[in-house]
Amino acid sequence: MLVQASQGQSGSAHVVVLGNEKGGSGKSTTALHIAVALMKAGQRVATIDLDCRQQSFTRYINNRQAWARRTGIELELPVHRCIKAGLTMQVADNENSELTQFTDAVSDVERTFDFIVIDTPGTDSYLMRLAHSMADTLVTPINDSFLDFDVLGTVDPQTYAVTGESHYAEMVRDTRRKRRQLDGASSDWIVVRNRLSMIGSRNKQLVADGLKELSFRLGFRSVDGFAERVVYREFFPRGLTALDDIDETTLGTKPSLGHVTAREEVTSLLRQLKLPLDERGRRRAANRTEWFNSVDKPLEVHDILGA
Ligand SMILES: Nc1ncnc2c1ncn2[C@@H]1O[C@H](COP(=O)(O)OP(=O)(O)OP(=O)(O)O)[C@@H](O)[C@H]1O
Ligand SMILES: [Mg+2]
Repeated sequence: MLVQASQGQSGSAHVVVLGNEKGGSGKSTTALHIAVALMKAGQRVATIDLDCRQQSFTRYINNRQAWARRTGIELELPVHRCIKAGLTMQVADNENSELTQFTDAVSDVERTFDFIVIDTPGTDSYLMRLAHSMADTLVTPINDSFLDFDVLGTVDPQTYAVTGESHYAEMVRDTRRKRRQLDGASSDWIVVRNRLSMIGSRNKQLVADGLKELSFRLGFRSVDGFAERVVYREFFPRGLTALDDIDETTLGTKPSLGHVTAREEVTSLLRQLKLPLDERGRRRAANRTEWFNSVDKPLEVHDILGA
């Protein structure tokens, strides 16, 4: 019921899921960047953290809220829910409690928000699979190394040609198939290369070639995401993203060229994700920008006289 109710039907939120069974690939970092980008585009965004134990996404959002309060800067915040881990000795009871929280979280927001961005843990679990089967857009960040590539496919050690598909890829194939059977909808799967080295290397080219070959077999789109940059690591304690204002007050530190280029690559990633931004959202964003611009300006004489 839950799955049917939240699959991008009209009037229902578009579900973006960040998933990769490999830990530390950039899911939580990318999740916040996508959520903030969507809010800046005027979309109504709810976020859900399924990583009950680590809760990095939740902490990232809490840090953003605290930084906004501390500095008086206006930072967009999503309506957020964190699913708490069941703590009884019974696995089935824990899964039940987590499922109920998740179902409630989705049904609370699916009719009133444009997007739900869901961050998942880097381990296989019932909830993580369920989220994958709900995805209208599945975003899988992977670090640019064959160790991370290994969750998607295997390669020949001599030639680096793709020799097979791995467990996470099979799980995604399975959840996408079930989804198609359920309501005929197909989800868009995008594998995003993360922490790209800024210099060309043989490894970088080989991983790109391998992903291209796998993308045909598995039906995903492979796109370049973020370069390896210190700024992405520094954002977390303040809850910031590369899309927030690049000035010293917002950043709490001197802006650098890294901030500017990071912003360009985040904007480029969002474009490549091809998320369905609706016209009302675009208008909301345009009105807000106009309003922000006008409050900075002193009142014109005719504004005063014409009032
Ligand atoms: N493009 C990048 N450049 C530099 N550091 C990055 C980049 N992307 C992510 N990181 C850093 O890599 C680490 C892992 O990122 P993140 O927590 O987003 O991954 P994750 O997939 O959510 O991990 P987990 O599976 O543990 O939940 C963090 O220390 C983060 O700051
Ligand atoms: Mg994470």
